[in-house]
Amino acid sequence: MKLLVTGGCGFIGTNFIRLMLAKHPDWSITNLDKLTYAGNRLNLLDLEENENRYDFVQGDICDRDLIMDLLDGNKVDAVINFAAESHVDRSINDPSPFVVTNVQGAQNLLECARQRKIDRFVHISTDEVYGTLGDEGKFEETTPLAPNSPYSASKAGADMMARAYFETYGFPVLVTRCSNNYGPYQFPEKLIPLMYMNALADKPLPVYGDGLNVRDWIYVDDHCLGVELTLLKGREGQAYNFGGDAEETNINVVKTLLSVVGKPESLITYVKDRPGHDKRYAMDFTLAADELGFAPTVNFEEGLKKTIEWYKTNATWLEQVQSGEYRNFMDTWYEERS
Ligand code: NAD
Ligand code: DAU
Repeated sequence: MKLLVTGGCGFIGTNFIRLMLAKHPDWSITNLDKLTYAGNRLNLLDLEENENRYDFVQGDICDRDLIMDLLDGNKVDAVINFAAESHVDRSINDPSPFVVTNVQGAQNLLECARQRKIDRFVHISTDEVYGTLGDEGKFEETTPLAPNSPYSASKAGADMMARAYFETYGFPVLVTRCSNNYGPYQFPEKLIPLMYMNALADKPLPVYGDGLNVRDWIYVDDHCLGVELTLLKGREGQAYNFGGDAEETNINVVKTLLSVVGKPESLITYVKDRPGHDKRYAMDFTLAADELGFAPTVNFEEGLKKTIEWYKTNATWLEQVQSGEYRNFMDTWYEERS
């Protein structure tokens, strides 16, 4: 199978490409990535140099001519769209790039793939499109979309577009909605790598609000397996929920991390809350279990240890990705909150 994967130099895309090329000797992958601050070509440099089933193209999912060219002449069987602006806090600072990439870019990809009659299109969405939960219940695929941040609103926009492409054109698009991923290659603006990095440097660990917001954590490989199952077995037009069955408050995540790295809880600092901060996410993934055979395989403690081990042995990666742009964003965001 020949895949066009977008956003493959980001966190989940990198893990997906590595896993799929290792599992499927007959698959080849073209990775299209714009290389924003969150994309790192070096993540997959070994594949670029040594694997002839992999190639990299730097470009934008909004670029129609480029996509039409990449999809021309039966070069691709399926498209997997990971490309996105993915950080909620950045979307609060400036929603515009989120609308451009996450909505317009996704529609451009769908349209090009439709015109090129691509057999299958998997669009990667998120649990955040459902909004927030109280203390009880879980998100199901039938839960109405009620996004609360500019990020989740832009992701919901793309989900609606995917739905419209299926209903209107019969285009074979499928959507995955997954909970919070963690694992190797995650950019250190997200909770787990940020807290790890600060803990190592004995810097304050900024916990938003009261720290009691709940997320469901899934090890990134389990999400990637969910995407693979969706591609191979999913029903056209269907959205599938994926989760790790590992609900944790943020404060528990931070305390567990501190105990794994052997640093004191006195580093925890409560800061101003994120505006519009969703209280709780939890996923009902019965549909994916029943129809696709999905089940998460890595429990949270085991996954967190594996993740921290990866960051320890890849200290230079953490250094590399902290560009000037990264430092500017982090300094301003946290200065305003302390
Ligand atoms: P990421 O920010 O680490 O990576 C995004 C990648 O997309 C980067 O390599 C970036 O360069 C690329 N990109 C951005 N704009 C682009 C454009 N216009 N054209 C081409 N490439 C572009 O994100 P991630 O955490 O790997 O998330 C990947 C996808 O999974 C996103 O769609 C996100 O919404 C979704 N998702 C993420 C999580 C999570 O916990 N991280 C959970 C559920 C769903
Ligand atoms: O749920 C899936 C989503 O998970 C994905 O769609 C997003 O792309 C991904 O970024 C992630 O969004 P979150 O906002 O949940 O992840 P983040 O790591 O930014 O924050 C996790 C929780 O930790 C959230 O409740 C906010 C809190 N937090 C985060 C940061 C960065 C803090 O308390 N302090 C922090 O410094």
